[in-house]
Amino acid sequence: MTAPEGRVFSGIQPSGEIHVGNYLGAVKKWVELTATHDCIYCVVDDHAMTQDFDPALLPRLTFDAVLTTMACGLDPSRCTIFVQSHVPEHTELCWLFNTVTPLGSLFRMTQFKEKSRNALHKALAFEGESRSAAMHQLRNAGDGAVKMALEIEPLLAEIHPEGETDPAVAARLNDALGNLMQHLQVGLGVSDASTGLFDYPVLMAADILLYKAELVPVGEDQEQHLQLAREVAERFNKRFCEVFPMARRIPGEAPRILGLDGRRKMSKSLGNHIGVLDPSDVVEKKLAQAFTDPQRQRRRDPGRPEMCNVFTLHGHFTPAEKRDELAAGCRSAGIGCFDCKKVLAAGVNAELAPIREQAARLAQRPDEVLSALDRGRERCGTIAAATMDEVRGAMGIGRAALATRGGRGSQKS
Ligand code: AQP
Repeated sequence: MTAPEGRVFSGIQPSGEIHVGNYLGAVKKWVELTATHDCIYCVVDDHAMTQDFDPALLPRLTFDAVLTTMACGLDPSRCTIFVQSHVPEHTELCWLFNTVTPLGSLFRMTQFKEKSRNALHKALAFEGESRSAAMHQLRNAGDGAVKMALEIEPLLAEIHPEGETDPAVAARLNDALGNLMQHLQVGLGVSDASTGLFDYPVLMAADILLYKAELVPVGEDQEQHLQLAREVAERFNKRFCEVFPMARRIPGEAPRILGLDGRRKMSKSLGNHIGVLDPSDVVEKKLAQAFTDPQRQRRRDPGRPEMCNVFTLHGHFTPAEKRDELAAGCRSAGIGCFDCKKVLAAGVNAELAPIREQAARLAQRPDEVLSALDRGRERCGTIAAATMDEVRGAMGIGRAALATRGGRGSQKS
């Protein structure tokens, strides 16, 4: 396999079925890049364990994720496909990277904040006990935070940055800030999230850097994580020795596809998605319920295509001429949302039909999928082992470092 334009790495979580957001935001681009680059693609099962998961279901979801990406056009003779947990160096490098990653950088990660709040969102989506328990928790957290903030105020008055400050007051302020932060985390749902979810971006940095990949085709939602991967690489290179390149994002066809709720990112775990392998009647039914322009309440109300997620989706599945016709019909109330959604369903189904057919063929030949993964594991295992030799040597761990007792690869002065 040649690498005329550099190495590409990307991954997808087997946390549910692959959906149209994954397809447009990442997988379509993955396929395109196999013509020009050395591409390594991974089904990231270790990542999928950072949220609620069922161990009995995970192998099926992992297999299906591989099968679906292959059905979307990933040809294992033109790229490398493997499963993350089959190459244990990913988690080892993650641990080593943890030691150079500041906690503050992780606290800034938007995805962690969003995902750790999902428990509250879920609770609020239901009536009854879990909803009122969540509201109680939120109320208590808010009340407590206000009280704590009031205690902080007089302490602040006693802190003199330029002059003398009583060390006991400084210690009390520091404790009070720590307590407040801990308390707020309860309110945000953060304390219930797993440490793995918090560390997700570091594992992602390890995924990319283990293969020294420079190009990462991912959706816009992952840009912040890539920025962190660059920060980790830079810190490592500066502290130990120059091992890692700086990775940059290659945008997919769509930066961010919204879900059928028209509000949040289309996500496997939010139940607002269209599965790439959904049968055509399911696609029709799901789209029939999709959120549209909120101002268009009745059939006779004129609509605003630019405010409608269904119209945004048309941008990916409907030819331009037809789209213009639909937009004009929507603005003049000449057509209803129902008609518009039917055209979209036809476009989505036309694009997905060959993928479904290929998936059905592959499902009859599971050995083809499994042997592609074996080849992938072998190639990736070799690359990963070489990188880890460098990393361990640079950090002064591992058997080889012990044999030379720091004679080589020791820390930069
Ligand atoms: N809605 C989206 N629009 C554009 N791109 C998207 N991606 C995901 N959702 C959208 C891109 O798909 C790739 C694989 O994503 P992932 O499975 O690794 O993780 P994710 O972004 O967390 O996907 P989900 O569906 O939202 O999973 P859950 O619900 O389990 O968290 C990435 O390149 C991502 O940018």
